[in-house]
Amino acid sequence: MRATLSLLCLLLLSIGLALFVSSSSAENDAAVTGAFGDPIPGLASADLAAFERGKAIFEKRFTPSEGLGPHFNSVSCKGCHATPATGGSAQRYRDFFILARQNADGTTPKYYASCTVEMDRDAQLCLPSIVVPNYGPIGTIAEPVAADVSHPPIPAAPDAIVARRNAPPVFGLGLFRLVSDDEILSRADPDDADGDGISGRVNRIPAEENAIGRFGYKCQAATIEAFNRGALNNQRGITSDSTAVKVGAAYERGERGGGGEGGEGGDRRESPARRLLDELLGVRVAYAQVSEPKDRVKDLDDVPDPELTVPELQSLVAFQEHLAAPRRGAITPSVRKGEEVFARIGCTACHAPSLSTPLGLIHPYTDLLIHDMGAGLADGIKMAQASGSELRTQPLWGLCQHGPFLHDGRADTVSDAVLAHGGEAQASRDRYVELQPADREALHRFLESL
Ligand code: HEC
Ligand code: HEC
Repeated sequence: MRATLSLLCLLLLSIGLALFVSSSSAENDAAVTGAFGDPIPGLASADLAAFERGKAIFEKRFTPSEGLGPHFNSVSCKGCHATPATGGSAQRYRDFFILARQNADGTTPKYYASCTVEMDRDAQLCLPSIVVPNYGPIGTIAEPVAADVSHPPIPAAPDAIVARRNAPPVFGLGLFRLVSDDEILSRADPDDADGDGISGRVNRIPAEENAIGRFGYKCQAATIEAFNRGALNNQRGITSDSTAVKVGAAYERGERGGGGEGGEGGDRRESPARRLLDELLGVRVAYAQVSEPKDRVKDLDDVPDPELTVPELQSLVAFQEHLAAPRRGAITPSVRKGEEVFARIGCTACHAPSLSTPLGLIHPYTDLLIHDMGAGLADGIKMAQASGSELRTQPLWGLCQHGPFLHDGRADTVSDAVLAHGGEAQASRDRYVELQPADREALHRFLESL
């Protein structure tokens, strides 16, 4: 009887969920946009509190006694994600470099070894990942964060690959985790079966149970947590432990590390949308670092690891999960015309105008797939299945707030960014070059409105 009852409840619940899903899709746009740096509107107060706690950690300037270093690029996440508001992007002076080894078998592991206590501390260079830090002792583990710091040398060896990275904004990024695998796979065409010259593949991440990667320039992370643990260690020298908590039917806020360091208090009820999402996402397990998942999550400064607590990590992730998507600008007649041009010359083949989520449609202008962008944009870095010339279609929402453009920040203008497209995007780029001036004008008005 009890079993029958709970079965009945389950049935009713799924009908309820189905109704909710279809009605929210029918209503179309998800209400998830806001001013840059604001949370998604209408969050339950517990989620809002986690957002604020996470924002404080994102903005916090760590000191060596709090775990900063031994290697780091910036003392805060905001150091690189600040324009035009917390969560945004950075100018070129914040760029960092990644350094990998080109192996004969096509793999590109990091160049320098991992630090271990057994190593000859003074003789060997060691780094936690392929990210080359700007600050820290010269690659050795003997010294603490030093005054006369210098980044480890980039060898002029023939097997060394160096790639530049310019910070993208993270506004609305949390919504990508709500896009179903089916939605992403519906646009994938790995063998270009339709013969349009555009393939598009998913990047499945072995270190994250082969989940589809959505985060990073090569879709190299499937979860925000995985990306964050990498960023924490690579950019700030902050170690963390994976929450490894199951999020899904059995999910309860209390299980997720006691509700954050804010402790009790606050409204613990979750918004219906949040509950629905947890149901739909099913059981998810969070993992270690993105860049090198098996790398140690301990570092060799004097601060005990992990340097960030699990509730702090959860708040940091919650901040990004709840960061609002950019708001569209005015939709003028020329913006509308530009939108037609954008579709006509094939930009939408990769920059998909909308993605469906359980909350409704979102408009990031990406397909969350990786595409071969040709030799000009290739960086030689392989990440999971992404080859040296494959990159994730960069979301275009909020575009005009965050030049320079492209993964290495090489483009000063939107036009330069489009002209750099090659590979699968070559034909579309060539059609852009051939546009009549009025159409090109309109296209740019459209891109500026995103
Ligand atoms: C030194 C500059 C720098 C700092 C500091 C930095 N980031 Fe980033 N961030 C980047 C760059 C560059 C990328 C793109 C890297 C890539 O995918 O190769 C990025 C990407 C991201 C992404 C994925 C964005 C996307 O579009 O998928 C997230 C999430 C992120 N950073 C969070 C953080 C967090 C959290 C911190 C602090 C722990 C942080 N970042 C600190 C430069 C930085
Ligand atoms: C084959 C897929 C594909 C097509 C077609 C395509 N793009 Fe892209 N686009 C990408 C990828 C991948 C990136 C990221 C490249 C990088 O970071 O180096 C990108 C980046 C961009 C950027 C830079 C965004 C940023 O924030 O740095 C702009 C602007 C852009 N595309 C506009 C367009 C326009 C306009 C068209 C049509 C003429 C177009 N794209 C066609 C895949 C495509």
